Amino acid sequence: MTGQLPTGDVLAVHGGTPLHGRVQVRGAKNLISKAMVAALLGDTPSRLYEVPAIRDVEVVRGLLELHGVRVSDGAEPGELVLDPTNVERANVDEINVHAGSSRIPILFCGPLLHRLGHAFIPDLGGCNIGGRPIDFHIHALRDFGAVVDKQPNGMDITAPSGLHGTKLVLPYPSVGATEQILLTAVMAEGVTELRNAAVEPEIIDLICLLQKMGAIIKVHTDRVIEIEGVARLRGYSHRPIPDRIEAASWACAALATRGDVYVQGARQVDMMTFLNVFRSVGGDFDVHDDGIRFWHPGGELRAVALETDVHPGFMTDWQQPLVVALTQARGLSIVHETVYERRFGYTDALNTMGATIQVYRDCLGGTPCRWGRRNFRHSAVLAGPAKLYATELSIPDLRAGFSHFIAALSAEGTSTVHGVNLINRGYEGFTEKLAALGAHVEPA
Ligand code: EPZ
Repeated sequence: MTGQLPTGDVLAVHGGTPLHGRVQVRGAKNLISKAMVAALLGDTPSRLYEVPAIRDVEVVRGLLELHGVRVSDGAEPGELVLDPTNVERANVDEINVHAGSSRIPILFCGPLLHRLGHAFIPDLGGCNIGGRPIDFHIHALRDFGAVVDKQPNGMDITAPSGLHGTKLVLPYPSVGATEQILLTAVMAEGVTELRNAAVEPEIIDLICLLQKMGAIIKVHTDRVIEIEGVARLRGYSHRPIPDRIEAASWACAALATRGDVYVQGARQVDMMTFLNVFRSVGGDFDVHDDGIRFWHPGGELRAVALETDVHPGFMTDWQQPLVVALTQARGLSIVHETVYERRFGYTDALNTMGATIQVYRDCLGGTPCRWGRRNFRHSAVLAGPAKLYATELSIPDLRAGFSHFIAALSAEGTSTVHGVNLINRGYEGFTEKLAALGAHVEPA
């Protein structure tokens, strides 16, 4: 890193230096926001640790405060205290302004219906990686007894006869819809049976947290979750699982730049599928008690064929950083994206830099996928190794943004990266971490 820490939305990235050093990952972004929403269900304050300083957390904090939750910092860095004793209805205009580009507001439905009998959910934002409908959420809420009224700027939701346990089958194991159902069923009257549930580690961690609050949730085999509604929940004290998406991104950055990065906080059990692929590609790693060291052992990387999938498959959010590393592997790699229909847009930029990646509408893999024959370019074939050259990059979404950085750091020359602020939505201290790893980055 040259001079002071680079800030601002446009950065110059001088490529060609292997990343070396240590970074820390804290609580998983995709658990923390849900844990904060769950605090609404308690009748006493909750305490959440390892909360990263990212924009998604600020958005959820603001939305909770609009609804009367007192949110304060605890004694330990990254500790939040959430006091929901005076939950109240919020002004619709303020909700709309505050929700910004987040998708988390949809998860306020169940908790607000339980606490206030009413929820207003603004139109949702989030990364543009596919259509991202919310039909599973709406069907489930209606099955619980909610009345959903579409308004010009959001949804008005009430539960005139209360919320009641029900039998649900998700058409696809959606993470968000599973969370929606959990957050609603825990205090709905009676038993809820959910089939085809998502079972990502972040969901299991949310279940653990809800159990601490007093919920009764049984996780059966074959994606079946049974929830027995209870009349009251208390606050929790919870140390969340670490961010396995960020951990894998740093691992790929180490591999692509031929570096050596110790990711403090990374946990093997949540990353086993990633670790197998990392090793197949030719990366090396050592698992320690407090983290995992990832490095490029020298020699050539090997091409692989892989498909993204719901847990325990290879996460869709690991796909983009790994693809950058795969541009350096000898041979043809094949990546079939089965979770989102539009998650290869970022490969255009990689091709401009010298990679050879072709995206196809066909399903190039064995997993039955919803996107085949529907004109979605959701399979990629990469030929490597490719020498990457610096270029002008514009960050399209959160995960692709990190991958653009990895590409720029691996490339020869100085790239200009626009839209860096988008990365702050999901990665804490991103530029500080780059500095700690010896990256040469400065304001453009
Ligand atoms: C969560 O999104 C994550 N976001 C995503 O991470 C992650 O990629 C995704 O899960 C899959 O692991 C958060 O946790 C905040 P889904 P979510 O519902 O819950 C379809 C990141 O950058 N679907 O599991 O929105 C959907 O279109 C983000 O951190 C419906 O069709 O994902 C997609 O194809 C990106 N109807 C698939 O299911 C619905 O009602 C999986 O989506 C809901 C989803």
